[in-house]
Amino acid sequence: MKGLFTLSTVSSEKIIEIIDLALRFKRGETKVSYPGKSMATLFFENSTRTQYSFQMAMIKLGITPVSFSSVGSSLAKGESLYDTVKTFEALGVDGVVVRHSKDGYYRDLDSVRIPIFNGGDGKSDHPTQTLLDLMTIYEEYGRFDGLDVCLVGDIKHSRVAHGNAEVMKRLKMNVYIAGPDEMLDDTAKVLSLDEAVEKCDVINLLRVQFERHSEKLDMNEAEYLKKYGMTLERVSRMKDKAIIIHPAPINRGIEIQSEVAECEKSRIFKQMTNGVFVRMAVISMVLEDKL
Ligand code: NCD
Repeated sequence: MKGLFTLSTVSSEKIIEIIDLALRFKRGETKVSYPGKSMATLFFENSTRTQYSFQMAMIKLGITPVSFSSVGSSLAKGESLYDTVKTFEALGVDGVVVRHSKDGYYRDLDSVRIPIFNGGDGKSDHPTQTLLDLMTIYEEYGRFDGLDVCLVGDIKHSRVAHGNAEVMKRLKMNVYIAGPDEMLDDTAKVLSLDEAVEKCDVINLLRVQFERHSEKLDMNEAEYLKKYGMTLERVSRMKDKAIIIHPAPINRGIEIQSEVAECEKSRIFKQMTNGVFVRMAVISMVLEDKL
């Protein structure tokens, strides 16, 4: 199968190569174009950033994006993911971006011949999110080795946490997790958020994944923010150069105090900009058989 499914099978050297190409696209040092090609975004879960930044990346690469809305499609008639992807292949698109709630959904698609780009699978992986997070960190520090990062919040239900932790550890970052007990798992060593804000170079906030919870959270929003959220008071205790990242969508007033989202340490909107360049890099490397 061609494409990008999980970074766990991509070497650290290759990951650095992708980030390097994304930075060159951002600085305008490289230009490539694939006129005549088209790619479809097949999102079976909600998405704003991932879907539209893949489309922006396609436009910048001269590729025509084809949108698919699961509402109004033949999914309502019981069509499967496999048959939907095979349909777009038959229509002649040159690649598909897929987001689906099933962990490892792409394993059911091994007879598809066009490249598949994983836009998020269940609670497992979100490789382009991990890459854009890494690019944002690299722009700040120029390295990964030895940086302390804490993933904060709903670790257990987050594909971003699981994907980021695996690669960050491989790049020799010291990875920690913080959050309410019921949202933690064995992804990394646990810190309290108050320890984390003073120690870490990167605070990687995560959205509370309400849609994946089987039980209602036993805490109101204000209480969550006070105990586990990023408040201006916590920001004031961070190291001088330390930054805050979040994949978004953000729940203002729950895991992040509204003012923190646009504070001087936040890189949340810069991450979205970087997402376009990372996706340009991934698409072009796959089209040129370099990934
Ligand atoms: C994330 C996702 O969908 O995995 N968002 C994103 O792609 N930027 C995180 C989330 O929904 O919390």
